[in-house]
Amino acid sequence: MWKPEERIKYIPTCENWPTSSEAESSLLYSNLRVGPMTLEQRTWVPAMVPWRSNEQGEVTEDVLEWYERFAKGKPGAIVVEATGIRDIPSGPLLRIGHDRYIPGLKRLADRVHSASEGKTRLLIQIIDFLNIRRRPDPEKYLTRFLPITANHRKHMAMDVADENAVREKLLELNSDELATVLTAKEWEDMQFGQRERVTDTHIPDIANLPKTLPRLFADAGHRAEQAGFDGVELHYAHAYTMASFLSATNTRNDGYGGSRENRIKLPLDVYRAVRENTGKDFAVGCRFLSDEIIEDGSKIEDARYFATAFAKAGMDFLSLSRGGKFDDAKQPKIGWAAYPYTGRSGYECMPGYISDKQGPFGRNINPSKLIRDTLRSHNIKIPVVMAGGIFNFTQAEDVLKNKQADIIGFARQSLADPDWFEKVRLGLGNEVRLCMYSNYCEGLDQKHKQVTCELWDRENLDSPNLAKSIDGRRRLIAPEWEKPNPN
Ligand SMILES: Cc1cc2nc3c(=O)[nH]c(=O)nc-3n(C[C@H](O)[C@H](O)[C@H](O)COP(=O)(O)O)c2cc1C
Ligand code: SF4
Repeated sequence: MWKPEERIKYIPTCENWPTSSEAESSLLYSNLRVGPMTLEQRTWVPAMVPWRSNEQGEVTEDVLEWYERFAKGKPGAIVVEATGIRDIPSGPLLRIGHDRYIPGLKRLADRVHSASEGKTRLLIQIIDFLNIRRRPDPEKYLTRFLPITANHRKHMAMDVADENAVREKLLELNSDELATVLTAKEWEDMQFGQRERVTDTHIPDIANLPKTLPRLFADAGHRAEQAGFDGVELHYAHAYTMASFLSATNTRNDGYGGSRENRIKLPLDVYRAVRENTGKDFAVGCRFLSDEIIEDGSKIEDARYFATAFAKAGMDFLSLSRGGKFDDAKQPKIGWAAYPYTGRSGYECMPGYISDKQGPFGRNINPSKLIRDTLRSHNIKIPVVMAGGIFNFTQAEDVLKNKQADIIGFARQSLADPDWFEKVRLGLGNEVRLCMYSNYCEGLDQKHKQVTCELWDRENLDSPNLAKSIDGRRRLIAPEWEKPNPN
């Protein structure tokens, strides 16, 4: 994980939690209309992949228990993790790409609604992503995977040589020599693992994305509605397909790349298709980036333009994240896939406790305000969800008071303590287990291991019937909170 050079250490602390009556009269605990839904409070658990599904992408008992645990804290809304819209094997990623997923997803929606006593609205984040391969062993890459071309032969003066001889010769080259013989793309494939981009329009499936994606998203949205979710969040953020269409690095020349107007075309088509395929009581919004934080990437001005266009098209909410791109990801180890949260853009997405002068708390607040101000200057009232390093009541309440956002996302803080929302509401903030922003959870996500929090995953490991990680060393669910007796 990339860390700012200054390496200043921050320890989250909070001494001024509100009393229950202060919480009750706060903006954070007041309700808010979000399109067709009403949030009981302006708190939001953003999407977080916990790797609890199976190879079939189904809602397992572990998935149910994971979200039930969040629901017991009764936040205003929970967004279920990034869920794949295609009916293709995707490892243990949750999927919604076929009607057979509906019964499992229905169990999930029922479990959350009932565990929160109807207080929490449930959305699901729907995602499309392109193929990415693991970084190959260079020897295997050169002897097996790399297609030998006229270019390689020309560079090594081996025009008529047998293919095996060309491969043998490639193996003998040092890195500098190889870098000149291979194309930039081949070099990158060897160093990082092959990764498809939305600009690879020579690949028919990628050229056709503007035709195929609206239907895939629309069907997924419809399934979420049938399963009893309150809405969907279209995943237009981070390193995935839709964010790549929005990106300033998208140079497609088929009308879907280049100018902002062209880059937003497919995201708007997808939104309209989902809207047309779902009912008026179903919320549809998206998550996108206030800034990509990469060289030549989209910046805040792009985000202001996108926000206005999404809102004018009729979305019910806009959720803002930042960074999280492949473009500046660290080179993965051999046998591993690149992870889009290892570079500077990844740091901005999930800032850790080792930071710079600005610190890890609330780095998305100012961009969120700029975007919200733009919307309000057009008299657009759409709620803006902001996340990133928010762990205490005062921070959250100030963001709302200062009109910097309308809803506060607590991702890692709710992972550290899913009861945050109830504890603070009841005036018991001093019982909150504060997230340390260690990013231990993110490290597990990177390895596709069941995500847990280091603040609770070794607690009472010998309790009977405890769900544990595959290696048996960690509990999978945060311990229950024993509410103090009011007397
Ligand atoms: C384990 C883990 C998994 C995540 N998975 C997703 C995801 O599926 N979709 C998404 O938009 N963001 C994902 N995120 C990013 C969070 O939603 C959030 O934007 C980020 O952690 C910053 O907010 P925080 O400081 O409140 O944690 C994930 C974060 C973590 C820690
Ligand atoms: S492991 Fe726990 S304390 Fe560390 S960042 Fe994740 S949620 Fe916070």
